[in-house]
Amino acid sequence: MTILDIIEKKRTKQELTTEEINFFVQGFTEGSVRDYQMSSLLMAICLNGMTDRETFDLTNAMLHSGDIVDMSELDKIVCDKHSTGGIGDSTTLALAPILAWCGVYVAKMSGRGLGFTGGTIDKLESIPGFDTSLSEQEFFDVVKKVGCCVIGQTANLAPADKKMYALRDVTGTVQSIPLICGSIMSKKLASGSDVILLDVKYGSGAFMSTKEEALELAKKMVEIGTRAGKKVGALITDMQQPLSDHVGNALEIIGIIDVLDGKQNRLYHELKEVAVRLLVLSGKCKTREDAVCAFDYAIESEGALNKFAEMVKAQHGDSSYILHPEKFQLGQTHKVLAQSSGYVTGMNAADIGRAVTLLGGGRMTKEDVIDFSVGVVMSVEIGSKVEKGDTLCTIYHNDKNLATAEQMLQNAIFIGDTQPEPHKIAYAFVSKDGVELY
Ligand code: URA
Repeated sequence: MTILDIIEKKRTKQELTTEEINFFVQGFTEGSVRDYQMSSLLMAICLNGMTDRETFDLTNAMLHSGDIVDMSELDKIVCDKHSTGGIGDSTTLALAPILAWCGVYVAKMSGRGLGFTGGTIDKLESIPGFDTSLSEQEFFDVVKKVGCCVIGQTANLAPADKKMYALRDVTGTVQSIPLICGSIMSKKLASGSDVILLDVKYGSGAFMSTKEEALELAKKMVEIGTRAGKKVGALITDMQQPLSDHVGNALEIIGIIDVLDGKQNRLYHELKEVAVRLLVLSGKCKTREDAVCAFDYAIESEGALNKFAEMVKAQHGDSSYILHPEKFQLGQTHKVLAQSSGYVTGMNAADIGRAVTLLGGGRMTKEDVIDFSVGVVMSVEIGSKVEKGDTLCTIYHNDKNLATAEQMLQNAIFIGDTQPEPHKIAYAFVSKDGVELY
């Protein structure tokens, strides 16, 4: 077997065997398959696709390219949640303390942001002292003590994905359902949780631009996870506008604190749906009604907010910032005003993320240093009525690229005469039992 045979086979739309898939994933991880060969194969997969069997084998080969976390020493069900990425998506960080307070463990390994989407680990590091690189034993100890812990991904978790993703990013091969499935599910299965909720986003700030594509991806990932023996569900959710009204690192922590304190915005509603689904999927709550009650009580009692402060303290962060968010140092403010009256008819969510990156709140290369104090706070959402001169959003900045970011934000928030239909937070839920539409 040679890599050339495998490339030619995929180029001519033939199905690869399990051995051939193991061969190229292992060879690429070890270095015997070269970048140029892998680029060519990735493009052939992108153009000609993979069968469900090939996609499962690809995931399996990527999963076994590195360590698989063994969570058997934890004495409760462990839940994980993965978002395919978006703008102002801080659901994970609000979810972990809610589930922990309800009695379900969340032991989560997250990533950093690159390009226009933010990363959970960067957001956490905006809390002074917060340590995202605990050892595996410390990680388990915090989970047992607090119920939740969020750290960065360990170096040897699905290393095949790290190398393949870096190459996909620069060869135009990110947009491929089998490759996205392999990438996400290999990491999720390697992280060792029992229950996984996938949040598959569609819209202008997401990898999948339509609901239909997002649904196809969700069905395949649920099938792979179920086949691997996990309890898996997927929500298809809207990413046509930032999820939280706070976008940026420290700002998103402030947005989470608002929601844990009872503010009911888009982030709150999505968080509630994700939490309720996980409480039922994990078996912690027997019915949806029980799960809704558990969620409501976690917020009303301030149990989840205190649990968040407890997690921050256990991970060496200054938990006084959680109870007193006014302590976060933020940049100077600058308001972006509506140039005309009408309704907000839509947004370019990706450009809102790009504006935050330009202000210094994200990175274009892995080496860039993030300014935690910058970002954007939205004053409107799709459907809002605005008068000329109203504030659309407030920029927090430190004089970097302010004019360009302001122009980008003006262009990213569309104002027209007709009030649009209200945007649903979730479009569908996918489980092994099928698809439920909202
Ligand atoms: N997120 C991932 O982790 N991998 C992909 O391929 C796309 C989104």
